[in-house]
Amino acid sequence: MFKKCYEIDTFDNLKYEYNKYTSMDFSLTEEHMMIRDAAREFAQTELLPGVIKRDNEQKFPQELVKKMGELGFMGIMVDPKYGGSGMDTISYVLIMEELSKIDASASVMVSVNNSLVCYGLEAFGTDAQKQKYLTKLATGENIGAFCLSEPEAGSDATSQATTAIDMGDFYLLNGTKNWITNGGRADVYLVIAQTDKSKGHRGINAFIVEKGMEGFHIGPKEDKLGIRGSDTHTLQFNEVKVPKENRIGEDGFGFKFAMKTLSGGRIGIAAQALGIAAGAYELALKYSKERKAFGTEICNHQAIAFKLADMFTEIEAARMLVMKAAWLKDQGENYDIASAMAKLYASKVAMEQTVEAVQIHGGNGFVKEYHVERLMRDAKITQIYEGTSEIQKIVISRALIHG
Ligand code: CAA
Repeated sequence: MFKKCYEIDTFDNLKYEYNKYTSMDFSLTEEHMMIRDAAREFAQTELLPGVIKRDNEQKFPQELVKKMGELGFMGIMVDPKYGGSGMDTISYVLIMEELSKIDASASVMVSVNNSLVCYGLEAFGTDAQKQKYLTKLATGENIGAFCLSEPEAGSDATSQATTAIDMGDFYLLNGTKNWITNGGRADVYLVIAQTDKSKGHRGINAFIVEKGMEGFHIGPKEDKLGIRGSDTHTLQFNEVKVPKENRIGEDGFGFKFAMKTLSGGRIGIAAQALGIAAGAYELALKYSKERKAFGTEICNHQAIAFKLADMFTEIEAARMLVMKAAWLKDQGENYDIASAMAKLYASKVAMEQTVEAVQIHGGNGFVKEYHVERLMRDAKITQIYEGTSEIQKIVISRALIHG
């Protein structure tokens, strides 16, 4: 029965090569472990101390962004010739997990800068665009933002109302973008806009917009449930003149650019969700070994012990999907479905297991100093941004049904 299931070329449908699937190997190298340990050390020593304050005040100091840049976290997979760290996607998810265990606001900055901005520029930008923008982004000297969502176009990404009219030497950009991560602090914005409505998704382009361009306004910061240290803004473009050379790729490539970029982004967010869940689990385990009730540490009560067993199992299952998606990307295989599955599952685990972590903490779980309430609030966004869980199911189910 099991063999028969394989014989109906399920994996061909999903664009995986079956023989590569069976020899899948993502055991960590010495280098991976060093990178993971460096990220863990940074998270413990630099991110943990101010994390509650940053969440309360909705701020993230530039000094910390600079330090992440110095450690190579802002351009993890970028070629060293453009200032990047030249690491693989496995390293990226290890870093994302460790940062997210402590501060998901820090990790979303890392994820957007790496997956959506640096990757997009490195994979599809011209040499001149890479020279001008990528190096500063990969070193963390500059920060990037990815601007696809609009008031009326979040999941339905082809319905872009932002327009970019071809004026010869430049495009005239008009419109509004919503929920933009790094919106207030970015230097470089990759903006998706419609250039020819009659062409549907083929009439969409991606542009590089710089902070300070005339007509580009940054709206007020959103007051959010979670990832409050990370700034999220509405952006306004009023007759912004974007030079022709700032278009990314061939005319009409913008929608595919966004989709391809988001596929990798979803690995980053899946790793973020994994880290949030793992962080909550580690806190819950520790707490359950210290807190006493009915004459013993609460971990000795089966009600708590079984929760811990379920949490650990779910988190490990999520980790396997995240690592598999990262590994496929590193192998040069198609990872669209794997990244959608990893994000769908890891974000569900993050949401469910952070709720359990709060429950294990009891009354203390509801108090900020115990951290788990923040992790629970932070978990929710992983089911929403870079494609909601429902969008991931569309991506997965279309591949299953239509190949
Ligand atoms: N790679 C390359 N091409 C792709 C692709 C991919 N992963 N996915 C789709 N395409 C192509 C299709 O092949 C098709 O091209 P052809 O017509 O040439 O074959 C074209 O794109 C259109 O595809 P669909 O017909 O599937 O498009 P659709 O309108 O049905 O939408 C969707 C598909 C998957 C639902 C898509 O709209 C989607 O992913 N929506 C969610 C968008 C999203 O993730 N938004 C989050 C905002 S960004 C964010 O959160 C950033 C932040 O700040 C953190």
